Amino acid sequence: QKLKLSLEQIEKSGYEHFMLKEIFEQPKSVHDTMRGRLLVDEGVIKMAGIWDHIERFKNANRIIIIACGTSWHAGLIGEYLIEEYARIPVEVEYASEFRYRNPIITDKDVVIAISQSGETADTMAALKLAKERGAFIYGICNVVDSSIARITDAGSYTHAGPEIGVASTKAFTAQLTILSLIALKLGKHNGNLGNAEFMSLIAELDAIPKKIEDVLSSTHELVQNIAKDFVNATNFLYLGRGYNYPAALEGALKLKEISYIHAEGYPAAEMKHGPIALIDENMPIVIIAPKKGHYDKIVSNVQEIKARKGKVISVVNIGDTQVSEMSDYVIEIPETSECFSPIIASVPLQLLAYYIAVYRGANVDQPRNLAKSVTVE
Ligand code: G6P
Repeated sequence: QKLKLSLEQIEKSGYEHFMLKEIFEQPKSVHDTMRGRLLVDEGVIKMAGIWDHIERFKNANRIIIIACGTSWHAGLIGEYLIEEYARIPVEVEYASEFRYRNPIITDKDVVIAISQSGETADTMAALKLAKERGAFIYGICNVVDSSIARITDAGSYTHAGPEIGVASTKAFTAQLTILSLIALKLGKHNGNLGNAEFMSLIAELDAIPKKIEDVLSSTHELVQNIAKDFVNATNFLYLGRGYNYPAALEGALKLKEISYIHAEGYPAAEMKHGPIALIDENMPIVIIAPKKGHYDKIVSNVQEIKARKGKVISVVNIGDTQVSEMSDYVIEIPETSECFSPIIASVPLQLLAYYIAVYRGANVDQPRNLAKSVTVE
């Protein structure tokens, strides 16, 4: 009798919620996303979907990334990656805006759709429109054989495994992994990314699952303790620059979705154009500040916040001093290339949102008013 477990408990493999289980699955899910694709010893990235249509990508005037929600945040990071390494112009669009604004699309455009479920109505409609106008459609979906996966011309599955928690976690880091692979592969192929840099980047990408594992074990308890201090917060600001600006947006979205605390993500430099007016001793501000990527600029942002007595929770690299000394709470993560840092920095931010929500007694796996996949407008 004591051993009677519900199916759901078994599926949660001992975790209290699917979301926590999925956060902890990320070393494996990111590894699964790269499996068979990233061949470090051979120095190649194998992606049949890209390779079979390499001329479309090579001759693309631009790439348009279309998505909603968390997948749209992944798309923003995809823009930074593809523009930096493949030097192809990228635009990122909310599917719902794109489909209704009579966008200019030609047969020289490549559209990349990102969707965990592969069923989001707005994304689907935007793709149909782009397809009618002759664009080549590439899908990045998690759910195999989903509607979006079926209408695309080619694509790559993220292979993150089923995601049950409504707030997306492991699907997001898997999307970032696929986008990294695509950017590096295109850059290598079109000659914008030299061999030495390519080799060092793929070795770094290969090391990400282990680094996520390290972050989970080194920050889990710490983040729980930090969360306890913010259970009654009413607002949060998340700031980052460069690749970590979209990571700030995603960190804020996680908190909003499951804890119902108002949170805004902002590019750190934009703080002075508005959000700075909100900063006082009651405003918690999460700052993503790894060493690589505009670090000195972030230091001055933190100084501006501290001058107004804001509470700083910083996500910095192990051994950091400058930002750490000014912070009220410090979460340390291992160093990596700037372009992959959102994959690692997102993990403690997922935990922070999760524990704040748990301590507030919220239903983290099924937050009010939200659906896992939005199949209607
Ligand atoms: C819903 C979900 C989000 C998700 C978004 C896009 O809002 O709650 O977690 O990011 O839809 O979903 P998709 O399946 O297209 O990635």
